[in-house]
Amino acid sequence: MSLNVENVKTNAFGDQKPGTSGLRKAVKVFQQPNYTENFVQSILSSLGDKLQGSTLIVGGDGRFYCKEAVDKIIKICAANKVSKLFVGQNGILSTPAVSALIRTHKATGAIILTASHNPGGPDKDFGIKFNVSNGGPAPDGVTNAIFELSKTLSSYSIVPNLKVDISKCGSQVFTVGDQKFEVEVIDSVEHYVSYMKEIFDFNALKALIKGDITGKPFSILINCLHGVTGPYAKQIFVKELGAPSDSVVNAVPLEDFGGHHPDPNLTYAADLVNAMKAGEYDFGAAFDGDGVRNMILGKKAFFVTPSDSLAVLAANLDCIPYSKQSGVKGFARSMPTGAAVDRVGKKLGKDVYEVPTGWKYFGNLMDAGKLSLCGEESFGTGSDHIREKDGVWAALAWLSVIASLKKSVEEILKDHWATYGRNYFTRYDYENCESDPCNKMMAELETLVTSEAFKGKELSSNGRKYVVKLCDNFQFTDLIDGSVATKQGIRVLFEDGSRIVYRLSGTGSSGATVRVYIESYEPKEYTGEPQVVLKPLISLALELARLQEFTGRDKPTVIT
Ligand code: G6P
Repeated sequence: MSLNVENVKTNAFGDQKPGTSGLRKAVKVFQQPNYTENFVQSILSSLGDKLQGSTLIVGGDGRFYCKEAVDKIIKICAANKVSKLFVGQNGILSTPAVSALIRTHKATGAIILTASHNPGGPDKDFGIKFNVSNGGPAPDGVTNAIFELSKTLSSYSIVPNLKVDISKCGSQVFTVGDQKFEVEVIDSVEHYVSYMKEIFDFNALKALIKGDITGKPFSILINCLHGVTGPYAKQIFVKELGAPSDSVVNAVPLEDFGGHHPDPNLTYAADLVNAMKAGEYDFGAAFDGDGVRNMILGKKAFFVTPSDSLAVLAANLDCIPYSKQSGVKGFARSMPTGAAVDRVGKKLGKDVYEVPTGWKYFGNLMDAGKLSLCGEESFGTGSDHIREKDGVWAALAWLSVIASLKKSVEEILKDHWATYGRNYFTRYDYENCESDPCNKMMAELETLVTSEAFKGKELSSNGRKYVVKLCDNFQFTDLIDGSVATKQGIRVLFEDGSRIVYRLSGTGSSGATVRVYIESYEPKEYTGEPQVVLKPLISLALELARLQEFTGRDKPTVIT
């Protein structure tokens, strides 16, 4: 029996502009009549002649409203002449798993239901993100086109009577008008797990955990923060690598992430930090809601900053069979990320690229074969195995380095700093501030630091002197397609190599979040406490922006 397509009249919404990583709004916004439908139609329409006959992947992190959204997406795709959808069982797929699936199936793209590290639940956030055929987040050109379409949309197409059971794996074929439409529901973890087995030496990792490499069992604690990674981590760390079953905790994906922020940092993954403090575990990792971010800890909660994590992995990338085999190309980091990886690149004779915040800026460089590894201070690390950052991959990469060097996390870091010097780094976040004063603060700050009078200026703070070398609002020209991204963060760079960066977050769903990134380089002194070493620069950063005056906050919400 053939199913009918219905064209539904709708009014355009003016606020469907994707941010750093897709459209993120409160669930209630997505639940408004036609809101989700309009955005999905805009995504599909943006594909132009690639839409008819296309294959798309659909899945998400399991947060509240995922299943409803998957149902709408299936019905709208059917009406728009998509020929095949791969849908994660029960709508569940981690973002890295989606990226891998797009590449394997040579799909046109994917619609991913996630607001990543933002909290979930009926009163919290939802998100829809579109990834393109290389497996990576849609670049600005695509998200701008989606936004433009969304502003004038007057109808969408849907097959209201299409019923697909996404709880069972298998293929279901329908006739819509005179077209075939196939939905294949796939196991959420199988494809990703087998890919990880190709990339890493699971036997070596198994031996590490069992104790065959260091002479005693290597004990790990993986905290999935009730995000999507639970089933992936259970399968990999427990079933494949033989870690005890209680090594993976908070492994059941919950629609509201247990009421917490599924964000792996020192504040929101305090659980992991506290559990690691006693010294029972050698290695700890936490992942965010959709499995892209990671936090790595060593014994007694020894914290590895994401910027250092990137540098250590860069220096040791050939411990990973996939990278050794494909050859180490260049490295990249986002602009606010600490420059530790630059020193590794210099020593190894590899190019290091600096791009704006957002994983989408790495994609072209990877596709052009210029890049093997990249990372961001926002707890993102990944390689060219896919086009997303990948939390579970990062943990496996770290375990591979440990198995190969036969050293603890702390020893690895200390050796690294002894070789390269240390880039001290901290980030202060002021979450959920009022937008207007924050925009004003950024505008005034830009005027101040880019003025003629500021050039070469000597600033002092807590007895230290800093001479201004260069200030700007970071602008980036893509080396491959020539596209330009402007206003990517205010940089204040000093003669001694230290710097302050200010940005407004692009991932919040309401209000403004101010991020201040502070970094200094010490060639020899590497045992200091970052908050102490960086204190003069921190005070200077807060004063320059008149942060307290504009935000009304006397301390940050999160310090990394
Ligand atoms: C997401 C993106 C990252 C980016 C981060 C920035 O996680 O996937 O690539 O670094 O957002 O978030 P922010 O809140 O600082 O804009």
